[in-house]
Amino acid sequence: MKGIILAGGNGTRLAPMTSVVSKQLLPVYDKPMIYYPLSVLLMGGVTDILVIARPQDIALFQRLLGDGSRFGARIDYAAQATPRGLADALIVGREHVGDDDVALILGDNIFHGHEFGSIVVDALKNNDGATLFGYEVSDPERYGVARLDQDGTVVDVVEKPADPPSRLAITGFYVFGNEALDVAAGLSPSARGELEITDVIRHFVDLGRARVIPLAGGFAWLDAGTSESYIDACNYVHAIETRQGRKIACPEEIAFDAGLIGTDELRASTLQFKSSEYGNYLEQLAERNAA
Ligand code: TTP
Repeated sequence: MKGIILAGGNGTRLAPMTSVVSKQLLPVYDKPMIYYPLSVLLMGGVTDILVIARPQDIALFQRLLGDGSRFGARIDYAAQATPRGLADALIVGREHVGDDDVALILGDNIFHGHEFGSIVVDALKNNDGATLFGYEVSDPERYGVARLDQDGTVVDVVEKPADPPSRLAITGFYVFGNEALDVAAGLSPSARGELEITDVIRHFVDLGRARVIPLAGGFAWLDAGTSESYIDACNYVHAIETRQGRKIACPEEIAFDAGLIGTDELRASTLQFKSSEYGNYLEQLAERNAA
């Protein structure tokens, strides 16, 4: 399984915050936004990851994440010259994915909930076509929406429907079989001029091979695309982390817990962030495990 984080786009809804900084590099409380989707992939055991970003932002993502070894992963980078749509990730990322299946996650999506790691691991293991994550929202007309039959098989997906068939929004985390690459390569732009991920999903729906895993009520799915949802995401992370004393989406911790890195790598990150609260957190983690 290969991973892709789609972190391009112009983030126009967050301007002027995004006038000179890519949206996915903005902080969500105590860490850059891209740490959240990166953590989801690591939790799922996906360690061969391509970050797709605008050409002018690649060097910054590279400075932030390096070659991924700090997280026990391998991270490569590719440029998306124009935001042609979500399905374009499967075209830009074609070489990276090769003959494997792919877990594609949007760079501004934040997931948090009980046992999410095992949910992701199961989803990746059992994927036969398309596996999507659904979340009930009050405003489904803003999202891709799924209609399910009685046993959870997807019978239809519609992008931003005026008259939504359900309240089940499809989140920005998709698992696809390898044939999705060919499907994406054959797409034409939609009426709004984008290569639509719903068209890739529809291919699997038509074959009866698309499944939605509904994320339960206590779950949080946030996208940080507008100033309102951005501050909500920051406040959410702050509230949970302060209350629980555990970080949401600390990729070093996830990698350490999974045995992808050892105390030496953890200590190297600790030194790098010495004077920050994030660095202290890593230091404590290293100390607890050295004891
Ligand atoms: P959007 O929120 O649809 O687009 P955006 O981030 O550019 O924001 P805005 O609408 O404010 O201009 O994209 C969702 C995510 O997917 C986000 O992380 C950016 C990314 N994306 C790409 O990387 N390439 C693309 O072609 C598109 C459409 C989105």
